[in-house]
Amino acid sequence: MAANEPEVTKTVKPERKKITTKTLVTMKQRGEKISALTAYDFLMARYLDEAGIDVILVGDSLGNVIQGNATTLTVTLDEIIYHAKIVRKAVKTALLVVDLPFMSYHVDLKEAVKNCGRVMKETGADAVKLEGGERIAEVVKHLVKVGIPAMGHLGLTPQSINIFGTYVTRGTDPKEARQIQKDAVTLEHAGCFAVVLEKIPAALATKVTKSVRIPTIGIGAGIHCDGQILVTHDMLGMTEMFHPRFVRKYLNIAELSKNAFRKYIKDVKHEKFPNKSESY
Ligand code: KIV
Repeated sequence: MAANEPEVTKTVKPERKKITTKTLVTMKQRGEKISALTAYDFLMARYLDEAGIDVILVGDSLGNVIQGNATTLTVTLDEIIYHAKIVRKAVKTALLVVDLPFMSYHVDLKEAVKNCGRVMKETGADAVKLEGGERIAEVVKHLVKVGIPAMGHLGLTPQSINIFGTYVTRGTDPKEARQIQKDAVTLEHAGCFAVVLEKIPAALATKVTKSVRIPTIGIGAGIHCDGQILVTHDMLGMTEMFHPRFVRKYLNIAELSKNAFRKYIKDVKHEKFPNKSESY
C-alpha cells in the first residue's frame, strides 16, 4: 500500500453456511434455538433469508393469507409448487421446506411419493412437511427411502379442521396428549428430521421435545420447543382479523399500509404527486 493511500477497513460479512436438515438436528444438540417463518413470494423470502432466518416454510397457510380462504384445504399441489418456485429463487441460506397440500399424500403411497417428487423436482425445495402422526408414518418412510426429507406436524393440524370442528388447543385431555407424544416418537422412527407442534399446552410440548432427538418447532406450543415458527403475515400485523395469543405482532403493516395509501390518495387528489423532481 502506498504511503498516501487511505487505509480502507473492509467489514467482511461472514458467509452464513447453508442450513440443512442435519444443521437443525445439530442445533438441537447444542441447545441453539431454530427460527422459522413462512414465505409465499420472492421479496418476502429474500428479506427473511437476508435477515438470517433458519427455516423458510412455503406453508399451505397461503390458502388463508394469500388466497383469502377460510381453511387451508383448498390449496392445490400446482398452487404450492407455483409459490415454492418463486420463493426458491430468493433463498440462499435458509432450509426451504414446502407444505404438502391436503389430499396430496392421503390416497396411497405411490401417489404420495409421486406428488412429493413433483414438489422436490419442480421447486428445488430442501424438504417437505406433512400433517399427522401414525397414519402418515408409512408415507414418511417411503419419502426418506427415495431421498426426500420430511418434517412432521402434530397438534392442531389445520388440514384436519373438519374433524376437530374448532381451532381450540389440542392435547389438553390426557388421551390426546399421550397420542401426540406417541406420534412424535413414531415420526422420529419413521425418519422425520423435525416436527412442528401447533397449539398444544407448553407442558406437553416440553415433554415431547425431551422425548425425541429430532427438533420440535413450536407454534403456540410454549418456550421449550427447539424452535419457533409463525406465519409471517401474522407477525408483521398484516392479518388484522386474526390474533390468537400465540402470535406476537412485531409490526403493524396493515395500519402502516393503510396510512400510506391514504396519504397517496390525498396527494393525487390535491395534485401534490408527482412533484417536479418526480417528473421528466
Ligand atoms: O401452513 C403453515 O404456514 C404452517 C405453519 C403455521 C406451521 O403449517
